[in-house]
Amino acid sequence: MDRDGKVIAYLDEILPNGLVLDVGAGNGFTAMKLRSSNRTIIPMEPDAKMIDPSLPLAWAWGVAQDIPFHNAVFDAAYATWAFFFQGIKTFDEGLQEIKRVVKPGGLIAIIDNAGGDEFCALSPRNISSNADWWASLGFRTTIIKTAYKFDSLEEANELLRFYFGDGLKNDKIELSYRVAAYTLRV
Ligand SMILES: C[S@@+](CC[C@H](N)C(=O)[O-])C[C@H]1O[C@@H](n2cnc3c(N)ncnc32)[C@H](O)[C@@H]1O
Repeated sequence: MDRDGKVIAYLDEILPNGLVLDVGAGNGFTAMKLRSSNRTIIPMEPDAKMIDPSLPLAWAWGVAQDIPFHNAVFDAAYATWAFFFQGIKTFDEGLQEIKRVVKPGGLIAIIDNAGGDEFCALSPRNISSNADWWASLGFRTTIIKTAYKFDSLEEANELLRFYFGDGLKNDKIELSYRVAAYTLRV
């Protein structure tokens, strides 16, 4: 997914230097790409199995709806494919918490599926985010056009069947994929 690194490049461009929170950081892949000598990424992740303490990252254990940091300490916060936001209650609580820990003037960025592409079309259910809904909350939308690229059809179908079920039919090793970046200045 996004082998060309367009999503990382976009985040790298918009995120400020300083202290940045990665909400639902998974295995720390994105945090590792976005850290620099001027930017410290704090990956926060609730699933202990995902946390890799061997990485040079200052991991935090926690959930979006109860972030274990003081008010206004981060220059920015982002979440990539943080599908936990789709539960409305968690979303409201999570967004309030993210706003609480980001400094006034800081940036919030949420990355999710935009839909309208070959990848999302394979799903038996709607896995696209709702840009109108994010806009109603004051977020701006930027579309990043990228792709799922595989080395073989076998590799493609192994992953795609894992995602979408054994009945999946696909004959492509490259699928268009549109990513939505929703951004808000606090
Ligand atoms: C689809 S994964 C994305 C991981 C990572 N952001 C990435 O882009 O590779 C979603 C992650 O959110 C974490 N998660 C689930 N519920 C959460 C919550 N309430 N608050 C924060 N993270 C959560 C999961 O443990 C998982 O690591």
